[in-house]
Amino acid sequence: MSSDHWDQFLQTGTIASCPTNADGTYDLELEQGWRTFFATLDQGAVILDVGTGNGPIPLIAKNVSESDDLKFRLHGADRGVIDPPRYVPGGVERYSGITFHPRMPTEKLAFSSELFDAVTGQFALEYGDPTRSIAEVARVLKPSGAARFVVHHERSIVVETARQSTTHAEWILEELEVFEKLERFVHMERIKSAAVERAFAKLEEAGRAMTGELRRVPESHVLNVTVAAVQNLLDLRRRASPQFVGAEIDAKRRALRAAVVRMQDLLAHACSPEKVATLESIASQAGLTVAPREEQRHDGNLVGWILLWKKPISC
Ligand SMILES: C[S@@+](CC[C@H](N)C(=O)[O-])C[C@H]1O[C@@H](n2cnc3c(N)ncnc32)[C@H](O)[C@@H]1O
Repeated sequence: MSSDHWDQFLQTGTIASCPTNADGTYDLELEQGWRTFFATLDQGAVILDVGTGNGPIPLIAKNVSESDDLKFRLHGADRGVIDPPRYVPGGVERYSGITFHPRMPTEKLAFSSELFDAVTGQFALEYGDPTRSIAEVARVLKPSGAARFVVHHERSIVVETARQSTTHAEWILEELEVFEKLERFVHMERIKSAAVERAFAKLEEAGRAMTGELRRVPESHVLNVTVAAVQNLLDLRRRASPQFVGAEIDAKRRALRAAVVRMQDLLAHACSPEKVATLESIASQAGLTVAPREEQRHDGNLVGWILLWKKPISC
């Protein structure tokens, strides 16, 4: 699968793929787990974050490095066309000192062997081919280097939410056809067609269906965002040209479709205990020492598996 859907998402400037605080970065137990890991590394450690996206993990490492004067050398690689300093507001300053490597899949890390003291990944390793990715991680780690990954857990709240959001998004797009009904109403109103009332009634009906579902599931992000978008677009049609409104309706529909593809990608890569055992077995075969896996929580909720592997000195 190409990473286009991730590229589009990352170009919106969102820092973490699963937002956990108002700033759009990881916090609470998730951030603390990474902070604790980075604090174990020596001064001057060279660190690579794979599948880095907009670099939330290098940002945590940078923070630890600056507060403890650890002088880490930080790299983030991703298969996509990433450029966090460009896409994230204030990015040039925020990411200063971090080197990003776009178009670099974990399966093919363009680095010499034994370069990194640590390799990390948050919701990243599981997206690639496991055998080739883990072989590359083992290759680029220095002897006694450590790899830490947080991967999606099949029973996590992130996966549950993605499943529900996908259902809502597909219902909005395919069954309710909200954006088509909105487009039709805007068109009928503009050409002063007698069919305008019927078009509005259909849009209203779809709106009622969405608000009814929102009463049942008030936390649904997809529903909240879509209801607000429809309201904004209805307001916009009073002020903007038909072409502009049409383009905006289309942009919202495309964004929702892209979100469905991203969520399906996430669901396809969520890890069962058996899948994690396979990753661990591949890591052992690649010469890494595998620590017992742990569950990652965030605000008490299950959000992933924590995998901690080390490269022995004799590997
Ligand atoms: C769920 S996002 C996580 C991004 C970031 N680590 C975070 O926590 O926000 C998954 C990322 O993995 C990248 N990705 C997918 N397959 C990859 C692969 N084979 N090699 C490297 N990156 C990959 C995507 O482009 C995307 O940026």
